[in-house]
Amino acid sequence: MSGLAKVVVLGAGNIGGSLAQRLAEMDVAREVMLVDIVEGLPEGKALDLQESAPILGFSTRVRGSTSLDAIAGADVVVETAGLARKPGMSRSDLLEKNAAIVRGHAQAVRAKAPNAVCVVVTNPVDVMTHYFRAQCGLPASRVFGESGTLDAARFRWFVAEALGVAPRDVTAFVLGSHGDTMVPILSLSSVAGVPLARLLPADRLAAIVERTQKGGGEIVNLLKTGSAFYAPTASQAELVAAIARDEHRLVSVSAQLDGAFGERDVYLSVPSVLGRNGIERIVEVDLAPAERTAFAKSAAAVRDDLAILAKLPG
Ligand code: LAC
Repeated sequence: MSGLAKVVVLGAGNIGGSLAQRLAEMDVAREVMLVDIVEGLPEGKALDLQESAPILGFSTRVRGSTSLDAIAGADVVVETAGLARKPGMSRSDLLEKNAAIVRGHAQAVRAKAPNAVCVVVTNPVDVMTHYFRAQCGLPASRVFGESGTLDAARFRWFVAEALGVAPRDVTAFVLGSHGDTMVPILSLSSVAGVPLARLLPADRLAAIVERTQKGGGEIVNLLKTGSAFYAPTASQAELVAAIARDEHRLVSVSAQLDGAFGERDVYLSVPSVLGRNGIERIVEVDLAPAERTAFAKSAAAVRDDLAILAKLPG
């Protein structure tokens, strides 16, 4: 059992429901609270999940609420609320509507759970994390976005499939924004320490990089009515577990940059050490010139969205 008393999951859609299930089954907190504005949805999913406890053996208490008062006392808040993409949409198309949702939630966190560690997953995630942090006023170390670990998981699976090796033996870092400009870093990726360039020809690696960059869209195009949630929530649950167990995991999360990687005042995925208090430190690594250029392009894409956000009312 961990030290977490309460994890609040904002939004009880596909992501929120799946994440609550993973967290309950991992027994990382005494209580998981699902919150949504749709009457009955968070309570229904919570009760359904709770009734699986006798079979699965977890002791987490799962509750649901339609009131933001339920945020009170949270050690960890995961912001999943908002619209998901439909085919043909970019994550940036969600900006305005999701900002309005995130604003209210971040202000509720400021009032009711000022000591929480906050994980933002609402898209466009790097921009929404920036906005969530501005609206809640918590230290940047306690507000970060989840995407680098998801993008890396996709990359790792594609490599594992191409080589016929165990997925968990593939390690990878995908940095930058959670969009088409994300930057898979081949020099920081390996199979049990063996550099990828020794295992796969350059054209196969290039195809895997491109499929990773478009990985979210590939799922959206297949599902047609929403976006991915199994791999995203596996990634989010891993991050919440790292907080709960104070694991000091070295993971790629969207962190506020204050000069690291040549960027400032922008959230982007970078290697970060994650523990009970959130981001302990960013681990800056030297990037090759082409990777540096790609990272700067990724930062520019996020800044374009931040400029749109700055013009919104409120
Ligand atoms: C994805 C969405 C959730 O990458 O951003 O699947």
